[in-house]
Amino acid sequence: MVLKDPDFIAQIERWGARFLPEQKLSDYTSLGVGGPADLIVLDRLDALEPVVEGLRGRGIPWGLLGGGTNLLPVDEPFRKVFLQLAPGASDLVFEGSTVHVAAAAPLGRSVMECAKRNLGGMEGLVGVPGSVGGALRMNAGAYGTQIGPLVRSVTVFRGSTGERQELSAGAIGFQYRKSSFAPDDIMLRVTLELIERPFREILDHVKALNEKRRHSQPLKEKSAGCIFKNPPGLSTGRMIDELGMKGHRVGGAVISERHANFIVNRDGGTASDIFRLMDTIRERIYRAHGIELEEEVIVWRN
Ligand code: EPU
Repeated sequence: MVLKDPDFIAQIERWGARFLPEQKLSDYTSLGVGGPADLIVLDRLDALEPVVEGLRGRGIPWGLLGGGTNLLPVDEPFRKVFLQLAPGASDLVFEGSTVHVAAAAPLGRSVMECAKRNLGGMEGLVGVPGSVGGALRMNAGAYGTQIGPLVRSVTVFRGSTGERQELSAGAIGFQYRKSSFAPDDIMLRVTLELIERPFREILDHVKALNEKRRHSQPLKEKSAGCIFKNPPGLSTGRMIDELGMKGHRVGGAVISERHANFIVNRDGGTASDIFRLMDTIRERIYRAHGIELEEEVIVWRN
C-alpha cells in the first residue's frame, strides 16, 4: 500500500472519492494483466483538485487510470496511486449539432446516444472500447474515422499546475494514435461538433461496421486492441500474418488467429508473457522488413 495516512484517507471519502487499496490492475484492464496498485475513484469531479493537492503534498506519485482498454501494466506492484473518474449520470449535454461529453463516459454508448439525436460522424468509433477521454488521448480511430477532427474543445486538468484549462481544438495536436496531452493531464469534458444525419442511416452504418469488426477482430477475447501501430502505408497485422505467426504463444499470450496485430490473453497470461511475445514479433518484423514496430498499446512500466 502506497497511501497509508488514515486521516487523508478519511478526508478523501469526505471529498466524494473512494480509496480502494491494493487493487489488482488485472481486474481493470481489458487484457486482464497488471499488478497491484492503490486506486482512488473520484465520484465527484470537484474532488480532483484537493485529492491531487493532498497526494502532491505527501510526495505520493499518482497517475490516471482510464477505461483500461488500451493498457498494458507490468505485473509488479505499483509505487503510485491511480485516480479514476467515475462516469456520471448526465454524461452528455446537447446544443444543436454540438455535444458536451464527460471524458469518463464510455465511447460506444456516447456514439449511440448522439445517433439517437440524429447526430453522426462518429460511427467508425462505435466498436472502439474505452472512455471518451482515452479515445482523445490516443486519437482513437477505426474505419476512416478519428475522434480528433470532431473535437471543438477539451476541458483538461493539468497535473503539472493543478489547474483546469479549456483548450480549443487548434491547441491540441492530434496525430495518428497520438495527441499532445501530457501524461498527467486529466481530460474532464470534451465538446464535439457532429454531423446531422438520420438515426436510421447511422444505425445501418454502425451495424455494417460491427459486422466487419466481428469477422476481423477477436472481440470476445481479452485484448487491448492492436498492439503495434501501423507503419505509414503498411498494415502490421498483415505483416505478422504473412510471417505465419498467428497462434504463436508465450505462456498465456497468443497472437490472435483472427487478427495478427492482436495479442489475446488466454489461460491467465501475464504482462511478462505479453512483453516476451511482443519482443518476438518485433524481432521477426525487423529481420524480415527492417522496420522497428512502435507500440500502440500504452505500457506502464512502474
Ligand atoms: N490483415 C491480414 N491479416 C491479419 C490482419 C489484417 O492479412 O491478421 C490484412 C487485412 O485483410 C486488410 C489489411 O491487413 O487487408 C488491414 O487490416 P484491417 O482492416 O484489420 O486494419 P488494420 O490496419 O490491421 C486498423 C487499426 C484498427 C482498426 C482497423 C479498422 C491500427 C494499428 N489498427 O487495423 O485499430 O480497428 O484499422 O479500421 O491502426 C486499434 O487501434 O487498437 C485497432 C484495432
